[in-house]
Amino acid sequence: MKLKSFATFHLVLLNGLCSLPASSQEYPCPPPGADEALVDGENLVENCKCFYALAAAQKQDQSDTPTQIKEHTVMHYAPAGKYYGPDGITEYLSALSGDHVTATTQIGPSIPGYVRSIGNGGQCRTLTAESQNMHLNPYYTVNNTEACASMTIGVRVTFNITDDPFEPIDVQSYEIWTPNLFVTEMFSLFSRSEASAEYICDKILNVCEDYGNGESDSWDYSMKNSRSEGGVRGLKKSKSAKASKSAKMNEKMEDCVEQAMALPDVTIGADGVTGFIDGNSRACRILHGFMAKNNQHHCPHVSFDPEVDADGKIKCNESAGILHTDVFTQEDIAFFSLMGQAAFGFDEVGGRMTYEPCSVV
Ligand SMILES: *[C@@H]1O[C@H](CO)[C@@H](O)[C@H](O)[C@H]1NC(C)=O
Ligand SMILES: *[C@@H]1O[C@H](CO)[C@@H](O)[C@H](O)[C@H]1NC(C)=O
Ligand SMILES: *[C@@H]1O[C@H](CO)[C@@H](O)[C@H](O)[C@H]1NC(C)=O
Repeated sequence: MKLKSFATFHLVLLNGLCSLPASSQEYPCPPPGADEALVDGENLVENCKCFYALAAAQKQDQSDTPTQIKEHTVMHYAPAGKYYGPDGITEYLSALSGDHVTATTQIGPSIPGYVRSIGNGGQCRTLTAESQNMHLNPYYTVNNTEACASMTIGVRVTFNITDDPFEPIDVQSYEIWTPNLFVTEMFSLFSRSEASAEYICDKILNVCEDYGNGESDSWDYSMKNSRSEGGVRGLKKSKSAKASKSAKMNEKMEDCVEQAMALPDVTIGADGVTGFIDGNSRACRILHGFMAKNNQHHCPHVSFDPEVDADGKIKCNESAGILHTDVFTQEDIAFFSLMGQAAFGFDEVGGRMTYEPCSVV
């Protein structure tokens, strides 16, 4: 599991800041060694409770599968949508060490912005920023260009303090911020290529076996199984039947690639600038095609006609158009931007594309 590599899930912000007193109710507040701004003054006592709950959770959570993710935990990345629960979140994040982005490596430590109480009887929030390198697979990029996408990743976690010493916090949400270039430059670089159109069509034709079934407007999950049962008969097929089948398949593939190439690479929002992955684009189908490899639940999302999935949702048709500014406060975004420049060495954009492989350090 690669979750830990995406620091969303490490609460590393507390590493090195303090160690928990072994047995004491009387935790010093503010925490010794913590930056004044981290656990700030106004609500100091409540903020300290949040801080120590987080520290206790981190102490508990040495496993690779973070115990903080529950079925009700949501991960929200505005340009792509919301992903729920351990399975949904794992699946989504696995795309960051998948086919198009082959690896994601963190450069340097995560930098904490704040740990604070947001009231409501034990609700807390933390903000961190980190620098990540995303290694792009040149097989899928335009002109097979080698590329590395480096950028600030902002993470905001909202959790409750629980009474359970073994699970001291209950996480409601992980919200992720990236610079716009994650979509408009990185995603675009590989979703413009024909190799990616072929990737999408391989999922449609071979994983989902969905092409040419556009007349149904909801996905038939039984279809794949009933078809593969017929596979035994295929053994008896003559060579010429096989050849004509593969010729037909090639034709379907060509049609499909043509249809995929007619889509936009990414969706650009009403402001003419903001990129989205959740619209009717190749980018959306690359993401859901990747997920469909392991989970056919995503098959309806990859198809060209809008199809309803098992949850009654339609994806890769109309972007929800959610902006980072709908999710994060100006203060949060200012922190990501400041860290991008002061700590990670980016300009005001918050990241950069480098047209060579990511350095492996
Ligand atoms: C966390 O806090 C929210 C807001 O007060 C509440 O709705 C929710 O039930 C709480 N969750 C737990 C597990 O305490
Ligand atoms: C890809 O290569 C072609 C031919 O050399 C060139 O015209 C085109 O601009 C290149 N595209 C990109 C995005 O580099
Ligand atoms: C798909 O999106 C189009 C416009 O973007 C919209 O008119 C249509 O209703 C959507 N289809 C479904 C099934 O939601």
